[in-house]
Amino acid sequence: MKRLIAGNWKMNFTQAETRAFFEAIDFSNWDPERADALLFAPMLSLECALDASKRKFAKGAATIAIGAQNAHWEKKGAFTGEVSGPMLEELGIKQVLIGHSERRQHFGETDETVLKRVESLLAQGFRVMACVGETRAEREGGQTFQVLERQIAGLSKIANEKLTLAYEPVWAIGTGLTASPEQAQEVHAFLRKRFPKTLLLYGGSVTPENLASLLAQKDINGALVGGASLKPENYAQLLGIASLR
Ligand code: PGA
Repeated sequence: MKRLIAGNWKMNFTQAETRAFFEAIDFSNWDPERADALLFAPMLSLECALDASKRKFAKGAATIAIGAQNAHWEKKGAFTGEVSGPMLEELGIKQVLIGHSERRQHFGETDETVLKRVESLLAQGFRVMACVGETRAEREGGQTFQVLERQIAGLSKIANEKLTLAYEPVWAIGTGLTASPEQAQEVHAFLRKRFPKTLLLYGGSVTPENLASLLAQKDINGALVGGASLKPENYAQLLGIASLR
């Protein structure tokens, strides 16, 4: 499977900062034949990111794909503050991140609403990256696989090549505590049994220092990266590492 290095910018980067990121980044170590690149930008920076990405690669075939960090399952209606598939489609967005743990923690996202979003957006033709992962208390309580089982119960019935899964242990996100390659692989092997053909990414404090050892694991096809995707030199380095075999 071709690798994917996805960056999750979260609530960072105005349009001006988005342009500055693309101006600064040097993609010379990235081999687009070996690794795909994708950045999930905030809603108001999506159009600007798409434009900046197109300009950067105006003469070549490679592009950095741009995705949204959330979208509603309904196509329109009384859902204040939400964004719909057709609105994203009109901009040229083809990928959406769903169910990130920050959405689950701070915005009441549940396994049920995650599933509704994933199903609707896949049906609308988007590529969808769904996030799963246990909290520290759940891991310490020996419930990791039980929690994952619950989170993937609905998702595992979806057979769609446009679905990607990101395993992000909540205790590893933004903490500097990456799961060890063995811990990550243990969960990925579990997911692989349910999702034999699905791209499986690991996320949680991924950096240029630990990416290679994570990618060396059999069932890890790439990474979903928060903090390290905000620095152009770090994101470029991650793409360079994923380009090596
Ligand atoms: P992090 O974030 O790389 O900063 O830990 C990962 C994520 O939340 O997707």
